[in-house]
Amino acid sequence: MKIVMLGCPGAGKGTQAKIIAERYSIPHISTGDIFRANIKEGTELGKKAKTYMDQGALVPDELVVDLVADRLTWEDARDGFVLDGFPRTIPQAEALTKALKEMGTELDYAIDIEVPDQNIIERMGGRRACVSCGATYHLVNIPPKTEGKCDKCGSDLILRDDDKPETVKKRLDVYHEQTQPLIEYYQGLGLLREVDGTVQMNEVFDAIAAILGA
Ligand code: AP5
Ligand code: MG
Repeated sequence: MKIVMLGCPGAGKGTQAKIIAERYSIPHISTGDIFRANIKEGTELGKKAKTYMDQGALVPDELVVDLVADRLTWEDARDGFVLDGFPRTIPQAEALTKALKEMGTELDYAIDIEVPDQNIIERMGGRRACVSCGATYHLVNIPPKTEGKCDKCGSDLILRDDDKPETVKKRLDVYHEQTQPLIEYYQGLGLLREVDGTVQMNEVFDAIAAILGA
């Protein structure tokens, strides 16, 4: 199963991608998580990416395309993957189509999680992420068992630097301008499936599972 998750910042791509990955035993590949891990480790890539991410802008295509193309050649991705946060621009989508074609394969689905902008700012202010394992929570919708601590590994939970309201607004603008055109791109390829992302997390997953089957 080869899947791309689409949707604006905060739509629930990461939340659903983690569940899909577990259910279908495929790797969850999040470019945002890869960049955040690089920032934490202080790598060159991390330093470059941070300057864009903190402003709510996209990291340039050339810093992300090869990284993903390489990741898709790993053994664990042979039978499938769920990509979260990539592609984000038409050139990235074209590069992905090309890379998969060269590997003799293609995508099965592009799943778009739809959530109106109004819901997003409120959601993001409540999001908390684990500094260590990257698990995400929401203060109201998906609270951790112990305040400020990760259920899975016990590390501290933090508000992401780019989840401040003014940066979220910028990320939404960037989404509408550069990423939304992918909906039409994947519609044209006959791969687009849309789900309502405003309902409960498990109901969103039920809608996705109905698309993926099994
Ligand atoms: P990235 O990490 O991909 O961020 P994003 O797309 O802005 O998406 P988010 O992670 O903010 O949202 P999500 O859809 O995963 O939502 P989540 O499941 O957490 O990218 C960050 C930055 O990296 C970018 O801005 C860019 O600079 C750079 N970057 C990354 N990839 C790039 C690329 N390919 N090219 C260029 N630059 C790139 O859910 C959000 C919150 O809502 C959580 O608190 C969650 O618990 C809650 N929630 C989830 N589902 C529900 C529900 N159904 N009901 C209520 N609450 C819910
Ligand atoms: Mg995410």
